[in-house]
Amino acid sequence: MSDQWREICDVVTVAESRILDEAPLLLCGVDQTFVTIIEPFRIHSVEPLRITTASEREAAIENAGFNLFNLHSQDVLIDLLTDSGTGAMSRDQWAAIQHGDESYAGSPSWFRFEAAVKELFPFKHVIPTHQGRAAEKIIFTVLGGPGKVIPNNTHFDTTRANVEASGAEARDMVIPEGHDAAVIHPFKGNIDLGTLELLLAQSAADVPVVFLTITNNSGGGQPVSLANIRAASELCHHYGVPLFLDACRFAENAWFIHEREEGQSGREISDIVREIASLADGMTMSAKKDPFGNIGGWLALNDDDVAESCRNVLILTEGFPTYGGLAGRDLEALAQGLKEAVHPDYLRYRIRSTAYLGDALDAVGVPVVKPIGGHAVYIDAKSLLPHVPPLHYPGQSLAIALYQAGGIRSCEIGSVMFARQPDGTEVPAAMELVRLAIPRRTYTQSHIDYVIEVVTSVAKEAASLPGYRMTHEPKSLRHFTARFEPIR
Ligand SMILES: Cc1ncc(COP(=O)(O)O)c(C=O)c1O
Repeated sequence: MSDQWREICDVVTVAESRILDEAPLLLCGVDQTFVTIIEPFRIHSVEPLRITTASEREAAIENAGFNLFNLHSQDVLIDLLTDSGTGAMSRDQWAAIQHGDESYAGSPSWFRFEAAVKELFPFKHVIPTHQGRAAEKIIFTVLGGPGKVIPNNTHFDTTRANVEASGAEARDMVIPEGHDAAVIHPFKGNIDLGTLELLLAQSAADVPVVFLTITNNSGGGQPVSLANIRAASELCHHYGVPLFLDACRFAENAWFIHEREEGQSGREISDIVREIASLADGMTMSAKKDPFGNIGGWLALNDDDVAESCRNVLILTEGFPTYGGLAGRDLEALAQGLKEAVHPDYLRYRIRSTAYLGDALDAVGVPVVKPIGGHAVYIDAKSLLPHVPPLHYPGQSLAIALYQAGGIRSCEIGSVMFARQPDGTEVPAAMELVRLAIPRRTYTQSHIDYVIEVVTSVAKEAASLPGYRMTHEPKSLRHFTARFEPIR
């Protein structure tokens, strides 16, 4: 931990005032002369936003069964549902698309994509997929199965669902600080090494792979330290178990390591990423996040036999191994996006502009997960709506209210997403969060100022928000298509 972060963790109140003192606006310029951080790009083409009335939004959310996933995006003003596939591509990515070669096998676009992936993640085998969950489906089909346990700091929803679909158990073991929205810790996404060691010492034979999600999306977008990845790697290898990364937000995680971890500030981001990769035996990737793709993903790994089994599943479900569910043009866009994702000017802007939203909400007393994560601000709905019990879904209630008030679409990450257990019971999630995910390079500071105004106004009325019950619940990944009604 760097000295600055040691101090921050020692005295939380000092930490809060210090973060705010240092960062009242988008600040911390590169050359120290001026402190405002600007978007390191200018706008090249624009998309119109449709402004709706309150009564239009009332009707839209009711038609959607009070599920924000069911809304027509035309009825949304600021769409913070996800940062997945929603970012703006660069001029150079659009140019790269023109080089897309759509040959079925052995396209030059594939070789450019493979080289770009291996430049940062030098795994022996790269298996392209149409998005992250396809990579998960393939690896857990091969490595999962009944009686197996897959540990992770926190499984993302699709990861958990794919583990469970194979018959294996998905076990979360983030450090205790990762469950407390208010605790300040520089690497709240770290896996609990003691818990992991206990499991491996008792039953390593039942653990086909250990996963680390960087950054930890379901736990507040919090980073994992290099030291934690190194220690997890040593532990796994001591017990002969491979370590895999769920690496969607690898560049944001590497930036946090660069900023917060002792001895890392002088390093290139790409160098930190390569070291992270060198500690793992494989990875899954949703390229719709840090690699700036609107679609795409991959599975990469070193083991020849496992790779062969995975390619067999790939051919069955995705496509030939040199395109795997993607068009040549997508492969080109991703190869270029990977180069842009590790640029320090972009990452400085990205992380600071997310914190700008979180710090502003914190300053007006809206409870948020702290410190602010990389790709999103997470509002602690359990604290803001203490009158709504977890199984009446306080996060869903808040997310609906943000849409009704200001056309902002967010995402519940709490009991709607996680409470239903494989045995059919409903157990409240560890946290009831509402995620405001920031699409990459998409919204300006005034859009975010509007979000701050809307959230602040809804938070003032939080005591009047109702709980919800589900009127339709699908069997798996219920949050995507469930329907609700308010409990009056
Ligand atoms: C941590 C994490 N893993 C996996 C996925 C799944 O990726 P995809 O949506 O591309 O299937 C996501 C998507 O949000 C994610 O955040």
